[in-house]
Amino acid sequence: MADSKRSAKVVLDGKEFDLPVMSPTAGPDVLDIRKLYGQADVFTYDPGFTSTASCESTITFIDGDKGELLYRGYPIDQLAEKSNYLEVCYLLLYGELPTAEQLSKFTTTVTRHTMVHEQMHNFFRGFRRDAHPMATMVGVVGAMSAFYHDSTDINDPWQREVASFRLIAKLPTIAAMAYKYSIGQPFVYPRNDLSYAENFLHMCFSVPAEAYKVEPALAKAMDRIFTLHADHEQNASTSTVRLAGSSGANPFACIAAGIACLWGPAHGGANQACLEMLNEIGTVDRIPEMIARAKDKNDPFRLMGFGHRVYKNFDPRAKVMKESADEVLGLLGVQDNPILQVAKELEKIALEDPYFVERKLYPNVDFYSGIILEAMGFPTSMFTPIFAMSRTVGWIAQWKEMISDPQLKIGRPRQLYVGAPRRDYTDVAAR
Ligand code: CMC
Repeated sequence: MADSKRSAKVVLDGKEFDLPVMSPTAGPDVLDIRKLYGQADVFTYDPGFTSTASCESTITFIDGDKGELLYRGYPIDQLAEKSNYLEVCYLLLYGELPTAEQLSKFTTTVTRHTMVHEQMHNFFRGFRRDAHPMATMVGVVGAMSAFYHDSTDINDPWQREVASFRLIAKLPTIAAMAYKYSIGQPFVYPRNDLSYAENFLHMCFSVPAEAYKVEPALAKAMDRIFTLHADHEQNASTSTVRLAGSSGANPFACIAAGIACLWGPAHGGANQACLEMLNEIGTVDRIPEMIARAKDKNDPFRLMGFGHRVYKNFDPRAKVMKESADEVLGLLGVQDNPILQVAKELEKIALEDPYFVERKLYPNVDFYSGIILEAMGFPTSMFTPIFAMSRTVGWIAQWKEMISDPQLKIGRPRQLYVGAPRRDYTDVAAR
């Protein structure tokens, strides 16, 4: 970050206050308001943080107008085409693409951490069978702090490193276990001879009674889904992880907090909500009715998988995901899937409708991911867990960046209080 020579002024009650302007490597300049309260006795008001940068970061950059997403400077479409998830994990964590040797060492380390403590199996069995896998994941990932005490000291760089490996390696195992538990099948142990994506498919879909062969093209599509979801700057769940971490909470607790935040339908829960919506629409002739509902201000219904706080042109992840959807459905011989037809028609109609055009509401990453995951055999309840395991590396990279930032302070927003002014307690008999 370079301090720009410019500064802005706030004039309040005739007094002037200088606000330094900070210039990022990319993106709009930022007004530094850190001293404003101390000097002028005023707060700034920004619900939803639409105009507020909460930290400095070197990890991910989004240009919402151009529809560009960069991990450590590399465009997402290049990474989705040429790289793979574990290489992207290395890039996000350490800032540079690995050499062949670094990648091999990193892959081996992650792979050697894929099993979970055997006692965790008992912990899983405490949940109801019909629990949503996200509910199970919030609990189990939080409970990792009770199983892996030796990597909870955030002040020890080595423990932070070990916690990162454990989280990246074990989240697929935990997500697959949550799934297996919900359908009453035995847990499947990880296999270290398989790639990260192959192993996840194996743990979800194989059963002890018969051999399961992972289809390489499906593993590739799975890996691309992981890559596309790996990080996304200071979104709600990442900000939650940072806020939880700013108090000094251990990494497992912080990632559990991120998973809880991701679950909501306005965030990671949108992929499940989107597929449920497409199923509810069912046939192309019902699209106009749903579009009318989405536009009706008296109806809370929104087109799930449309719109984004930052992307106002297109979501570059959605573009790659759409190509992947065509590939996967082609491979599985289900191109004439009625839900895909509904999705394509809905996209076409919405992109031409002035309501969506004026508000710059484009399909986002969740619009197509659910179609691919369903075609692969995942139930809708597993869509958000898959998002959570893919995003874990981004949360960790952001958490580690925060912990090593000398400017780290506990996150503590202020408020615009509009409640009752001070008043005296009245006895119950007098009320
Ligand atoms: N359907 C219909 N209208 C919409 C939609 C939608 N999906 N999204 C936004 N709008 C309208 C909204 O009613 C408002 O209209 P008006 O200006 O007339 O009041 C305008 O567009 C701006 O909406 P907003 O709620 O102020 O925008 P936001 O930046 O706060 O919300 C969003 C962004 C993603 C939460 C929202 O677009 C949304 O709820 N989309 C559906 C859920 C979804 O797909 N979420 C996944 C996001 S991508 C993956 C991730 O980040 O996890």
